[in-house]
Amino acid sequence: MQKIHESILKWYNENGRKNLPWRILHKEYRKYGSEDDLKKLKNIDNAYAVYISEIMLQQTQVNSVLQNYYFQFLAKFPSLKALSMASEDEVLKAWQGLGYYTRARNIHKCAKICVQEFNAKLPFDIKELQKLPGIGEYTAGAIACFGFLQAKAFVDANIKRVLSRFYSLQNPNSKLLTQKAKEFLNYDNAFDHNQALLDIGALICLPKNAKCKLCPIESFCSGKNEYEKFHVSKKTQYENIILNILIVQKNEQFLLIKSKEKLYFNMYNFLEYNKEKNAKFIGEFKHSYTKYKINAKVYFLKDDDFEDLKAKAFAYKELEYITLSKLALKAFELFKKSDYVF
Ligand code: ADE
Repeated sequence: MQKIHESILKWYNENGRKNLPWRILHKEYRKYGSEDDLKKLKNIDNAYAVYISEIMLQQTQVNSVLQNYYFQFLAKFPSLKALSMASEDEVLKAWQGLGYYTRARNIHKCAKICVQEFNAKLPFDIKELQKLPGIGEYTAGAIACFGFLQAKAFVDANIKRVLSRFYSLQNPNSKLLTQKAKEFLNYDNAFDHNQALLDIGALICLPKNAKCKLCPIESFCSGKNEYEKFHVSKKTQYENIILNILIVQKNEQFLLIKSKEKLYFNMYNFLEYNKEKNAKFIGEFKHSYTKYKINAKVYFLKDDDFEDLKAKAFAYKELEYITLSKLALKAFELFKKSDYVF
């Protein structure tokens, strides 16, 4: 095991993404960060900064989190206290475009609980972390290890693939995987070890076309010759649907409905097109949302007498302050590029 650990750390030292902002928080890792990033992270609690990164990274690619969300979110809500004092609408607005908005609602709830029960800090104890909304076994382990520098093992989809292949496990259950992750853990440097496993999973041990030749533990890996056998991709059953969206402009304002459906709860969407006579077709786009593959067709109607009891009217400038669903944002982008723009 010692050789395996050494090989992983050497690889991580030479190839790992050591400068990711949520990896440069502790003083011994600051040397890997740019001055600009370090400035943005100054005065931000380590565990909180790790927590936000882990929640964002659950369903969103590293690059998108980095470019559009991470620093922006921390600038707006630099602490659990600040987050707890915001309204849910403000938190959703900062999350706009990231999708899976339950994550944002849970972060907000979690901040309130931590202010009330843990002196505005995340609890250090992994069992306490797991009791918080939206924090499961993986996230609790990641916060404990990356935020509090505890030697904890945890398994996400990437680590699952690496371990399944390494130990030739077909369809392992989570209990077995957790046990293997503990056996595999480098207790002397859990932080680098776990970050390295995430990187190996994301960059080397790919679902298809795994780059075994570049892998630091190839010579110890029992699944390398049949690696595809040890990764069962979750086959999502997609549903294709067509959505007809109607953008209504009434007295220079736009009509939107605050959704009460679970998926889009409290976010704004445009209306649905119901063959309104004077509406013009302005284009279509594709959009994926959870299990839906949506083909969205967008129509535009300018009608000062239009009535819809559920809809609210917003001036163009006001759209900046409310949370539109990604679907609505994309429809609006299409509209802005069309010939109908005011
Ligand atoms: N995905 C989940 N956690 C991550 C981390 N700490 N670094 C990079 N990608 C991740």
